[in-house]
Amino acid sequence: MAHKLTFTARDRLKLLLGGSAFALVGCGGGGGGNSGVTPPLVVTPPPTPPTPPAAFEPTVGQFKNAFAANFEIGAAIQEDQTLDADQDSQILKDQFNSITAEFQMKPEIIAPTEGVFDWTVPDALVQFAEDNNMVIRGHALLWHQATPDYFFAGTPAEVRTRLESYITEVVTRYKDRVFAWDVVNEVITDDNSASDPYRRSNWWDASGGNADYIDWAFNAARAADPNCQLFINDYNTELPGKRGRYVTVIKDLVDRGVPVDGVGHQMHLHVETPLAEALAAIDAIDDEFMGLIQHVTELDISLYNDPGSCFGDQTGCRADYGDNIPASVITQQAELYRDLFEGFAARSSVTSVTLWGVSDAQSWLNNFPITRTNAPLLWDRDRNAKSALQAILDPDFTP
Ligand code: G3I
Repeated sequence: MAHKLTFTARDRLKLLLGGSAFALVGCGGGGGGNSGVTPPLVVTPPPTPPTPPAAFEPTVGQFKNAFAANFEIGAAIQEDQTLDADQDSQILKDQFNSITAEFQMKPEIIAPTEGVFDWTVPDALVQFAEDNNMVIRGHALLWHQATPDYFFAGTPAEVRTRLESYITEVVTRYKDRVFAWDVVNEVITDDNSASDPYRRSNWWDASGGNADYIDWAFNAARAADPNCQLFINDYNTELPGKRGRYVTVIKDLVDRGVPVDGVGHQMHLHVETPLAEALAAIDAIDDEFMGLIQHVTELDISLYNDPGSCFGDQTGCRADYGDNIPASVITQQAELYRDLFEGFAARSSVTSVTLWGVSDAQSWLNNFPITRTNAPLLWDRDRNAKSALQAILDPDFTP
């Protein structure tokens, strides 16, 4: 007599997990059969989980080639990233055709002591660019930061002579090798109630309480390299007040024949930056000065739309997402990057777009305005391409 097969819950679980479908026939009772034959037990395998989409990986050259007809694709780098062993080196070579020294071509690095020049790192960065068929943006000849105090000592005439000498040394050394220089960086005030558009800085004071230093810098750079594109560069030009003051200063310089070739927009943005305001920065210059070149010089998109107090006294800053960045924020960032690059490509005056770093691991925003996990760039901390890059490159991709 055939024995009725009885299945414990464990057995059934094994069957289910076994994923094989088969009919079991036994004897004895069983529901439904007319001859006492146990109805077949058909076990259907669990549905195969959908294959997760492969992580996006740009093909070699895809980023820089996608915009080759519009603008260079740049990254701010530090010397160690030029070394083959560095995690970013291959991404740089594969995807970018322009570099900017994040800090190693500033006065405090090149001339830490008056009359003493250290060309070691700047030379290495310029050579890396040339060896890898990239251009290099010089950053920055004059800034109120990263500049040793000796630059500001003495009478305005002495300050002028020293500044002109420094710029002549640097621009001459890289003549016909550095294609563009940020001649002056961040000379516009952020104060919307200010009586004039100029930042009150050590340069303002050292010049005798005026902005003459801007003329001195541009004229010295032009004399040293007539072929180099000379830029004024600033941040927050996506804010109407700062943008208006920027236009005022540039108009004054152009009207007086100061040799300004281009306008740099740093574009340190955040996920809630209105696209229209970012693009209005470019349009405001095009509307006023046909013929000026425009570079997006330090693009990154912070995850956090902090209040002003966070930048002032580090209060009210948005809470750190840590490792739990909301998907909605990642989508916001990807969509804004996509729309920005579409907008830049539609504006012929934009001839260079530089990201302020290669991967999220490098970003200055991990420590500014507070120490916090940020992810403002196009490759993540593990050097995987992010959805933001896919959104820029793949028109069929929905972030
Ligand atoms: O790499 C050295 C490290 O070896 C050393 O131990 C450490 C302490 O001395 O310094 C490290 O170098 C620092 C470097 O950032 C890399 O982290 C420099 O001190 C520090 O001055 C430098 O800060 C740079 C800053 O400009 C000042 O030059 C930031 O990287 C850079 O992102 C920032 O970039 C500016 C733009 O030039 C202008 N627009 C705003 C933007 C952000 O502040």
